[in-house]
Amino acid sequence: MRDGATALAQARSETTIEVELPGRSYAIVIGEHLLASSGQCIATALPGARVAVVTDANVAALHLPQLKASLDKQGLLLGEVVVAPGEASKSFPVLDRLCGQLLELGVERGDCVIAFGGGVVGDLAGFAASILRRGVRVVQMPTTLLAQVDSSIGGKTGIDTRQGKNLIGTFHQPSLVLADIAVLSTLSPREFRAGYAEVVKYGLLGDALFFAWLEANWREMFAAPGAERRHAVEISARAKAAIVAADEREEKGTRALLNFGHTFGHALEALAGYSDRLLHGEAIAIGMRLAFAYSVERGLCPPADAARVERHLTAVGLPTAIAAVPGDKPAPEALLRLMAQDKKVKAGKLALVLVLGIGQAFVEHEISLPSLTEFLTRECARS
Ligand SMILES: NC(=O)c1ccc[n+]([C@@H]2O[C@H](COP(=O)([O-])OP(=O)(O)OC[C@H]3O[C@@H](n4cnc5c(N)ncnc54)[C@H](O)[C@@H]3O)[C@@H](O)[C@H]2O)c1
Repeated sequence: MRDGATALAQARSETTIEVELPGRSYAIVIGEHLLASSGQCIATALPGARVAVVTDANVAALHLPQLKASLDKQGLLLGEVVVAPGEASKSFPVLDRLCGQLLELGVERGDCVIAFGGGVVGDLAGFAASILRRGVRVVQMPTTLLAQVDSSIGGKTGIDTRQGKNLIGTFHQPSLVLADIAVLSTLSPREFRAGYAEVVKYGLLGDALFFAWLEANWREMFAAPGAERRHAVEISARAKAAIVAADEREEKGTRALLNFGHTFGHALEALAGYSDRLLHGEAIAIGMRLAFAYSVERGLCPPADAARVERHLTAVGLPTAIAAVPGDKPAPEALLRLMAQDKKVKAGKLALVLVLGIGQAFVEHEISLPSLTEFLTRECARS
């Protein structure tokens, strides 16, 4: 089925990246103005399937009519479910309602759910699809930069509970990912920038040349859809696809590299109450700078590399210091407690993704808590 999607994409000069997984490989199609052709693409890739679209109210207002028109043209559309925008929709009550609504729309085993939105919709709708009628297929149509380069690829789905983020969920690989870079133009500059942190992450963790390319081309990439934006999304999606193919369920250590900047970042997000005070990507930008600074402190990474990373994140307008988070200054102990609660802890040892330089990340499993506390104390005091 992915061959059909690939052939169609090639005919229209879109880029296709294959995620190679035994028995469940799929295509990521990246292009401009894909919404208009998505009906044809899905009909080719999933013959006979009818589709139910899950989206949020913001995306619905901006882009749903175009998607619906394209699906209707192929006679595929069962209907749509619109959830409230924001992380709060990744919850049991919303999941419960969504599953009921999908059943009422008449979604059968052979049908398909389209997750049309950012990472919130992708995680929620992907989870619903994985449990509805013991599993129906999902097509991810990511509409944020973060979702196009990260969350729509790799099959992690889930919701949040009182105990923490993403603690309930499944691995459910999509059957197809359709990333239309033109829809990113309606994102607020702040959301676009936050998603860009995940793009930079791929350069910093394993591709120094890509980081250098981003330093030279980020302005064009931000300004409009076009060759630069497409290249950045493509290289990022390729990197994610390769990591997922190597370690689908985060069992071999490769996929853990994607957590670069995230253990620091998640702790900062939790302290900010997962609010508008600090978007996920902003927390990751601070986390990546901290990971570089800590690697320098341990004598692992040249200081010049850390300085270069900080310069780039600052040039783009991303925060790099803990002090940049609005509100009360966090206590280092509180940060450490949250970092230790994060899922990257094994047998009481903290694992962190550190770097030997730009493009050279690795997982360090034996982080000493006293040295980390000292580091965080200094970072929390830094302005
Ligand atoms: N599954 C994974 O592998 C994975 C990886 C990373 C992050 N995530 C999850 O992703 C979520 C964050 O995703 P996100 O940053 O995309 O947030 P989001 O889905 O909340 O989207 C951010 C905001 O942008 C709006 N929006 C979306 N597309 C738009 C568009 N084209 N134009 C205008 N507005 C638009 C949304 O309505 C929302 O208000 C988190 O829940 C995180 O846990 C999952």
